[in-house]
Amino acid sequence: MFRKLWSLLAPFHRTFLVFVFLAFLYETVQLGNSYVISLVVTLFGSGVAAYTWIFLVAGLLLFDELNMRLDNAFDWHIIAKQSHPLYRFLKLSAISKFLKMNIPWHHKHNSGTLVGKVGDGVWKTLEIVDVMSWEFVPTVVQTVISLIPLFFISPWVALISIVTFVLFAWLTIKGNREKEPFRAKRQDYYEDEWNKSIASVQSVETNLMFGQQERLLRDQSAIHDGIIGEALQEHRLGIFKYNRWRIRVLTVARRVVLVIWILQLLQGSLTLASLIFVSVLVERLFSSFWRFARLLDRAAQNSEGAKRLADLLSEAEPVETGSIQTLPSKPLGISIQDVCFAYEGDYSEEDGALHDFSLDIEPGQVTALVGPSGAGKTTIRKIVTRLAGCQKGSIFVGGIDINDWDGPQLLEQFSYVPQGDDVYIFDETIRYNISFPRPEATDEEVINASKLAGIHDFVLGLKDGYNTQVGERGIRLSGGQKQRVALARAILANRPILILDEATSAVDAITESEIQTNMRTILTGKTALVIAHRLSTVWGLADKIVVMDNGKKVEEGTHAQLVDQGGLYAKMVSLQTE
Ligand SMILES: Nc1ncnc2c1ncn2[C@@H]1O[C@H](COP(=O)(O)OP(=O)(O)OP(=O)(O)O)[C@@H](O)[C@H]1O
Ligand SMILES: [Mg+2]
Repeated sequence: MFRKLWSLLAPFHRTFLVFVFLAFLYETVQLGNSYVISLVVTLFGSGVAAYTWIFLVAGLLLFDELNMRLDNAFDWHIIAKQSHPLYRFLKLSAISKFLKMNIPWHHKHNSGTLVGKVGDGVWKTLEIVDVMSWEFVPTVVQTVISLIPLFFISPWVALISIVTFVLFAWLTIKGNREKEPFRAKRQDYYEDEWNKSIASVQSVETNLMFGQQERLLRDQSAIHDGIIGEALQEHRLGIFKYNRWRIRVLTVARRVVLVIWILQLLQGSLTLASLIFVSVLVERLFSSFWRFARLLDRAAQNSEGAKRLADLLSEAEPVETGSIQTLPSKPLGISIQDVCFAYEGDYSEEDGALHDFSLDIEPGQVTALVGPSGAGKTTIRKIVTRLAGCQKGSIFVGGIDINDWDGPQLLEQFSYVPQGDDVYIFDETIRYNISFPRPEATDEEVINASKLAGIHDFVLGLKDGYNTQVGERGIRLSGGQKQRVALARAILANRPILILDEATSAVDAITESEIQTNMRTILTGKTALVIAHRLSTVWGLADKIVVMDNGKKVEEGTHAQLVDQGGLYAKMVSLQTE
């Protein structure tokens, strides 16, 4: 775990090494402090001249000043170079990871759990780094520096201290290993808790309407029981097993050290002044053993959250294979050839969403895609934009295989209005939302797109007009208004290919007919794929209508041809016009 964390924090290695150096310097000065006390005792006995004392006092004052300055440098180094920059680094790495991962990856991960994992992981990583910097490294340095003089003055005591330390560290590491499974389970509970907490907030209206608040609270309560259960087992192991053994080891060591000193005093190999010095050293050593243990415990406590963040940040990102140098001329056509596609795993007849599907979307023309719910219409949008990869078949945009396009460059060719709830409205102003794909767009461009999308008059009626804040996910807008904001956004993006997935399904009949009138202008010079359930919105517009059912193309032709054929399309038309 620590190795993984260490490689994750590569940009901070240098800062950390500078800090270890400062710690050594600081602790050496601290050691000088204990030595000065024993020096004063020696000098008292030998009756030195008065000016020696003056030098000593001046020296001590200088020493204290140096000590304080080192302490400051130490603190500042950690705060300015490590704590805050590290927070920024971890958070940005996580966001960058989210932005780079593909759609199937996002579909596999629950967003509440992801956000919780990052928040928790970042704080836990910071806590580990803080523990290491403020306490662990200084303790290691203090231990090493205290051991050196001890070896000269009282070698046996130094040896016993080392043995004690090894035993102590072994017990601590072993204890933490044994606690790992409890911690992992506890972390699973936390992840479940984040997911359910976010769901409780987002589903508030559904809960209120169906009166299920108590049940959600009970679910949460069960998760917390689980957390406490795992935590108690972990602490029981720590307190009643490993801590007891640590105390036994230390107590025995203290007794043995005392005996050694008595023997050394009797033999005359230890003076009273040296005894003061070594007893300070041993006290520092033994207390640093405890600190070691507690610090390792604390780092281990945070290790599971930090490990999961490290795992997330080291997940492989999709590799770009595209290499085209020159863009094809516009308008761009799309050709889908014998595509088989399943959302998860390998394609099979049963699990697939598209089966041997072929379709040509002519450049500069309007192709309509119709068919029953679940037929695979939205899936077509995902595969032509490479948001989801096909298991079989090929797709060409502008005559170039989509795998040869550079991913972002391919997406720059598309603009879209997603279906229903997939429209994402930011908690910002209407202007921000419409101009999202082109933040540099002029007011005139924004207004023009809004007029074409039939939303301009509504925006003018608002007190703050285009500067109106729309609330989380556009909560202050109606369904039809959100859809028109999304349409204005797609128009403003002004890309060669436009995909409209039920773009006006939530709009009233009068506004819809206004938008229909504008469609010719909106689609001029563009290749369009229009998906609709309400057939009247496409039959006057589309150059070609493709009917899908069960992931397959079942009919293709103009409105008149399809009605004449008397198949699925003719049936849908007759049901809608009855
Ligand atoms: N992310 C996904 N993971 C797994 N299966 C999915 C996913 N999205 C859609 N499906 C499945 O793929 C099939 C086609 O879905 P798609 O959304 O393309 O239908 P659609 O024709 O757009 O339907 P609608 O008219 O209701 O929007 C459906 O059976 C659906 O359950
Ligand atoms: Mg759909």
